Amino acid sequence: MKVAIGSDHAGFEAKEALKRMLIEQGHDVEDLGTNSSASVDYPDFAQAVSHRVADGGAARGVLVCGTGIGMSITANKVPGIRAALCQDEYTARMSRLHNDANVLCLGSRVTGQGVLEAIVTTWLATDFEGGRHQRRVDKMMLSNIER
Ligand code: RB5
Repeated sequence: MKVAIGSDHAGFEAKEALKRMLIEQGHDVEDLGTNSSASVDYPDFAQAVSHRVADGGAARGVLVCGTGIGMSITANKVPGIRAALCQDEYTARMSRLHNDANVLCLGSRVTGQGVLEAIVTTWLATDFEGGRHQRRVDKMMLSNIER
């Protein structure tokens, strides 16, 4: 699968390890930075990965910051993105089955590397269930939000 990945400085080491795992699993990984532990602004990387997914350049996106919160808030402002902040495999699986999440947000200061790897593996391997969930997903998209 074509996967775009990004992080800020807090998520840099976790992102590097996740990238290695994804490549070993056979995924086509595009790393949109950051490229060191020097301090950067997470919205820049959230936007880069989210736009890649929204434009169809990647099937899914993975974002890592300290908590995953800043990444998820930013990613969910990009039209077409359904970003899920996950700290365990159950919510990661459900975010695919019921919400068709196309961006996964992770917190490297919250979740250990082993769990991060299990979350990403499960999230990428789980298909959207569709059916009644498709109607709900359609209703959550920005173009369909009623004021
Ligand atoms: C960086 O210190 C931290 O604020 C960032 O990684 C993230 O946790 C923001 O939501």
